[in-house]
Amino acid sequence: MRSITIRRPDDWHVHFRDGAVLQQVVPFTARVFGRAIVMPNLTPPVTNAATAASYRDRIMSAVPTGVAFTPLMTCYLTDDTDPSDLVRGHAGGVFTAAKLYPAHATTNSQHGVTAIEKIYPVLEAMAEHGIPLLTHGEITRAEVDIFDREKGFIDEVLIPVMERFPGLKVVMEHITTKQGVQVVRSYRGRMGATITPQHLLYNRNAIFQGGLRPHMYCLPVLKREEHRLALRAAATSGEASFFLGTDTAPHLQHLKEAACGCAGVFSAPVALQAYLKVFAEEGALDRFEAFASLNGPAFYGLPPNEEKVTFVEASTFLAERVRVESEGEIVPLFDGEMVDWAQARGA
Ligand code: NCD
Ligand code: ZN
Ligand code: ZN
Repeated sequence: MRSITIRRPDDWHVHFRDGAVLQQVVPFTARVFGRAIVMPNLTPPVTNAATAASYRDRIMSAVPTGVAFTPLMTCYLTDDTDPSDLVRGHAGGVFTAAKLYPAHATTNSQHGVTAIEKIYPVLEAMAEHGIPLLTHGEITRAEVDIFDREKGFIDEVLIPVMERFPGLKVVMEHITTKQGVQVVRSYRGRMGATITPQHLLYNRNAIFQGGLRPHMYCLPVLKREEHRLALRAAATSGEASFFLGTDTAPHLQHLKEAACGCAGVFSAPVALQAYLKVFAEEGALDRFEAFASLNGPAFYGLPPNEEKVTFVEASTFLAERVRVESEGEIVPLFDGEMVDWAQARGA
């Protein structure tokens, strides 16, 4: 029986939502990961340090007792973001980073940035104070094919920003294409990328396998096989630019299985197992710790977690649906399926 022992991993891209959903989903992440970058796309969004601090308190109240977990908060950038509030929030330990949602690119992005020039003063301040910019990297013009939106963002927004603000550090969140892999490599040290389990495991056929599969729909949407293979090579390469970010994105079942279904895959209950499956298939378990536990903290300038955790190869059932009192259920990735790895007890 194979086993793997690594420093406790972190999740550099998480959606916890709020209220009853938050109470139910936080424990899945907190039990496995030491820290998580918490995305600010609530309704209303987390746009200033005061609301971020109280959101952090609500997250902490949902962490099971005896579990050590640190949420790292992010600021949702709008056309009107106040650079001085962001800088103060960062200096005061509330904000770890700020998130660029191009307006209407994804879930709850309607208050996002309508044109990148609008936030140039904010980007200037972020570069000066060492605040990383996290991006949902898709352009939104209606005429652009949905499968080309990441590439469009790289050419029209990302590269110009990298050139204009040489001091700015950027994370391209949830990269989905070989062009994403390429641009991250070309700005080594200044740019990092998270990669989700679903983009490593599936290509776009999964959305249409024998019928329409709403639980395979997320943004950026799954891409062609050649892109999945590029992502697998990047994740398992050990290169410091690529790190774990699940993009676990819970939506109630009836809002996904709908005429106009929400985007997002709820992976938190099985995320580590999903990544381990990929690394085992690629013969790269020796590089798993770099991806899961070392590269992310190094990029953010934080120490890796001290604690060690062990996973053993053992067929296990993990992915139960999550009941949210009076609201419905959330269907996880690997719903009803067995996974190949289990976290060793006490680890
Ligand atoms: C995310 C969500 O639901 O908040 N959905 C998704 O498909 N990834 C938003 C995001 O990360 O773009
Ligand atoms: Zn996104
Ligand atoms: Zn996300």
